[in-house]
Amino acid sequence: MPSQHQVKKVGILISGRGSNMMALVEAAGDAYEVVMVASDKPDAPGLAWAHEHGIPTFALSPKGIGKPAHEAAMTAALREAGAEILALAGYMRLLSDEFVADWRGRIVNIHPSLLPKYKGLDTHARAIEARDAEAGCSVHIVTEELDGGEVLGQARVPILPDDDAETLAARVLAEEHRLYATVLADFAAR
Ligand code: GAR
Repeated sequence: MPSQHQVKKVGILISGRGSNMMALVEAAGDAYEVVMVASDKPDAPGLAWAHEHGIPTFALSPKGIGKPAHEAAMTAALREAGAEILALAGYMRLLSDEFVADWRGRIVNIHPSLLPKYKGLDTHARAIEARDAEAGCSVHIVTEELDGGEVLGQARVPILPDDDAETLAARVLAEEHRLYATVLADFAAR
């Protein structure tokens, strides 16, 4: 019997370690496949892992060429690879409005806070500083507004009395890996 649904092709954008990217690759299956891992940091550790796992990679720094040329090259490579959806996984560079418009409604991101709380950086330190009882992570659609698009799913963890930003980040990260794979599969199927 032919499959009832299409396996969506996903391009993942990273800037560093890539643990969320690895979780997405390992959870790929009926809903989505990973066709490319792209990075704005040619020495991102996650790129080597992707390459070792047989996933096409694209690495280009915007330094020297500027954001428009960098994004145009990235879009061309991702389109060539057949990407239909982009998943940002620790991609730490702001995307231009033009790039977001090009991929309108087809870029998702994981952010380490319970959005709309703590957009931007240092989310765990800010949650501890605010004496929040819990923290977490959110997967959302990327729009022109930083960390501002529709939230597709969230996971929560308690903030413990002895937590610092590092221990809290580790607890949240474990949830990120679970949440992102589940939400991306749902998003790809819709
Ligand atoms: C993750 O915690 C992710 O949520 C965060 O960076 C880390 C990347 O780790 N993303 C952001 O802060 C985006 N604003 P990873 O490279 O191991 O997936």
